[in-house]
Amino acid sequence: MRFIYLTDTHIGANPVGYHQQPAYPDKIAQLLDILKDDISNESVDFVIHGGDMVDYCQPDVIQFANEQFTLPVPTFLCLGNHDLDRKDALDVWMQHAPNLFVNASPNFKIIRDSFVIHVVPNQWEEGYEYYWNESGAQFPHFTNMQVKQLIKTIEKHPDKKHIIITHSPVFGMDKEQSGLDEVLHNVPAQFQQTFKNLVNTYPNIKMILSGHSHFNTIKQIEETLFVNVSSFVETPFNYKIIDITDEWINIETRQIDRNKLDFTPMYNKERAYVQGKNKDKNLLWYF
Ligand SMILES: [Fe+2]
Repeated sequence: MRFIYLTDTHIGANPVGYHQQPAYPDKIAQLLDILKDDISNESVDFVIHGGDMVDYCQPDVIQFANEQFTLPVPTFLCLGNHDLDRKDALDVWMQHAPNLFVNASPNFKIIRDSFVIHVVPNQWEEGYEYYWNESGAQFPHFTNMQVKQLIKTIEKHPDKKHIIITHSPVFGMDKEQSGLDEVLHNVPAQFQQTFKNLVNTYPNIKMILSGHSHFNTIKQIEETLFVNVSSFVETPFNYKIIDITDEWINIETRQIDRNKLDFTPMYNKERAYVQGKNKDKNLLWYF
């Protein structure tokens, strides 16, 4: 199985909000046009978007984003906080872009012979589901029902390997990677604990994929990889090609060919840690 994972395209952002490198969400059509070549050349099965496809939830922005993501293979979306910045967000998505989900549900799975990919968008607000209040404190968590469903599916497929995709990362960036004084974008201990419990009980969860913080990191804990991915619309326009077999996972970070762009993107070299070194973005791992 081979798929492309990219995230945080923030389509519609004007002005650009949170970013780690110069961001070009208005160039999405061009970036995806170039990506299409890779999809065809690499025989990718599907594309998964890790969330914040749009910068704010409005029907016209979602329709535009959905048109842009008409690629040679299906695109699936794990909703992010920016995708959910109004209380009826889920209805808006299911009305205007149901094709990005399976069975019109924000939680869904992609099942193959030896793998299950679980798309489980984390929640952000206490007392609300699928809603992010921009001015509130971020509280990434799963509902009890989400955890229950996840466990049920894992137990139903004990011989398969499992991958969980959620928008919020489980870990920040280590000081060693950033060279900064503290962990960048640290994550509340409670969310980390949810995953520690899951992977301790189910070591056949082999990988967690996330986005949100717009940087590349790879962390291995016991039998599980925690992989975060930088924003697709920020220079150098990274995305991942992920190959999975019964025996190994290969994670390869690629970037859009700059020579094919009709503009000259800026790059902040002082934040090269956002892209990371080879070990922070590429890995061949035998189970
Ligand atoms: Fe986000």
